[in-house]
Amino acid sequence: MTDIYPLLPRVANTAYVTTAKYREWYQRSLDDPEGFWGEQAKQYISWFEPWDKVLSGGFDRLDVRWFQGGKLNAAYNCLDRHLQKRAQQPAIIWEGDNPNESAILTYKELYDRVGRLANVLKRYGIKKGDRVCIYLPMIPEAVIAMLACTRIGAIHSVVFAGFSADSLKNRILDAGCTLVITANEGIRGNKAIPLKENVDKALRDCPDVSTVIVVKRTETLVPWEHKRDMWYHNLIAEAQVECSAEIMDAEDPLFILYTSGSTGKPKGILHGTGGYLVYAAMTHKLVFDYHNREIFWCTADVGWITGHTYSVYGPLVNGATIVLFEGVPHYPTAARYWEVIDKHKVNIFYTAPTAIRALRREGDEWVKRTSRKSLRILGTVGEPINPEAWEWYYHIVGEDRCPVVDTWWQTETGGIMITPLPGATPLKPGAASWPFFGVEAKIVNDEGAPVPEGEMGNLVITQPWPGMMQTVYNDHERFVKTYFETFPGQYLTGDQASRDAEGYFWIAGRSDDVIKVSGHRIGTEEVESALVSHAMVSEAAVVSRPDPVKGQNIYAFVTLKTDAKPSDSLKSELVQVVRDVIGPIAAPGYIQWAEELPKTRSGKIMRRLLRKIANNEVKDMGDLSTLANPVVVEDLIKKRNKSEVE
Ligand code: WTA
Repeated sequence: MTDIYPLLPRVANTAYVTTAKYREWYQRSLDDPEGFWGEQAKQYISWFEPWDKVLSGGFDRLDVRWFQGGKLNAAYNCLDRHLQKRAQQPAIIWEGDNPNESAILTYKELYDRVGRLANVLKRYGIKKGDRVCIYLPMIPEAVIAMLACTRIGAIHSVVFAGFSADSLKNRILDAGCTLVITANEGIRGNKAIPLKENVDKALRDCPDVSTVIVVKRTETLVPWEHKRDMWYHNLIAEAQVECSAEIMDAEDPLFILYTSGSTGKPKGILHGTGGYLVYAAMTHKLVFDYHNREIFWCTADVGWITGHTYSVYGPLVNGATIVLFEGVPHYPTAARYWEVIDKHKVNIFYTAPTAIRALRREGDEWVKRTSRKSLRILGTVGEPINPEAWEWYYHIVGEDRCPVVDTWWQTETGGIMITPLPGATPLKPGAASWPFFGVEAKIVNDEGAPVPEGEMGNLVITQPWPGMMQTVYNDHERFVKTYFETFPGQYLTGDQASRDAEGYFWIAGRSDDVIKVSGHRIGTEEVESALVSHAMVSEAAVVSRPDPVKGQNIYAFVTLKTDAKPSDSLKSELVQVVRDVIGPIAAPGYIQWAEELPKTRSGKIMRRLLRKIANNEVKDMGDLSTLANPVVVEDLIKKRNKSEVE
């Protein structure tokens, strides 16, 4: 029996949503989606022109359209319309990697800078529908760049600054970007990240990129290509502030964001303007119970969907003050997050379970030496949170005063889908709890039939919601195949979950070959093809292995070519290959040499067995009758313990 934490009166008394309201609105949102979302769209967004129809199409024909005919602009909603009331209110409180560095940008200042950069982009030929790649650290310019694009109707594709030159190149090519915004270097945990160098490497194979705008984040000099590279500060200094916001259709694309799936290269998830913004704003306000003038801190990098929706669009549409943090939780000490909370009087704090587990491990003293009295709401996202980490977050960080909202969602969903609401949902540690308004979630078995209460199955969403992706950029067929082919008419999330008697959803994790390492989404096939790109490797199979801090770690089985000798230095080389091809986040924690991989007689790798070996669950290997050569498995079990990569 799990504990239930009742509503906290301190929060519930002023919360926007009560339990009764939740039930009533939720029912209405499903019974009358058009009426419901029409009201929300009016409340949260300023439209230049109203829509003709709130929702048309459906999952049966995959022709969903939200707010068709409506006209709006995302940057206008994040900036212009706040100027009357909030010109002097901080929009961004920036906290540098170095604790002595911080800065504040008011809404007026942010508006000015966005306008200037938007004019610069125009001057370099960027217009509505063009794609711009943003490869920046967590500095205000990242937000400015995103909003400058959306101001003129350009589609941004933000690439996480931890991705390698190769990954960057693939994303630039796939999206057809013609301009890149980057920095000479990034700094995280007092370490430099060679961003411009990566861009230079990537662009060797990207002939269509004619302009690179470089923010000078450090004093480090970088190689310069005179016709192509421009300093951001020079361009901005010469540019005008006034730049009218492009009038966009609700269904015009807003951004592309690449994410990993079970097969193939990362997909460019395409989000539209109207539906996405309505959903981002509403979820931000209600899930975090955001009240006027509160300080909202989402630790996610803008390179991920959480950074898009809850570091930028949701809060700024709502006129919130956000904290933008450049650094890492451990630098200079494990007290950093809690110190930043005190320094900037953060009211709402949203982070990933992996950070909570890592900080919990450092001991309570780091937390207890700070006050955290400003905190009101805590949130988590990105992977299942284990009850021990949840309890620590609730009792130690939040001192039993702050509800923890465990929010389940995905790059594809655009915003939070299953979550507690602070004034409405009694909390169960480890449960993502109830579906958000308009979200009809079901759990079905592999045949598509609903599973009984408490049983695990595939999590699917059966009705369109405004935040959902439009398609996979340049590959609509892949969109249909990946998400709608398994259970026609239903969106396949790729997650396993169960639902209990009180309607709480418990998310168990991915059911496909996607691994969540420290909350970062990595496809096993990507890691395998990176490994195989090494000249000595003949074959590789990658599975996940549970990890007490990272949630999951990458465990690679590698078969070498006959003339290659296994060695520790070769292991390091292989790790380096993955870092170079994908980025440091995908570096395997374990590499095990495999003379052969276990395969079926038809030649298919039996990952189920590899997962068991990686997890040391070797007592019961299950049915081995389809295995071509059973000796292979015995051999791998025997040799499993020397796999850790130092
Ligand atoms: C996982 C991140 C359990 C899930 C916003 C999903 C979660 C994948 C939770 C999407 C949660 C996210 N509890 N699992 N609260 N939140 N996930 O696209 O497996 O980076 O499918 O989006 O993260 O990862 P993505």
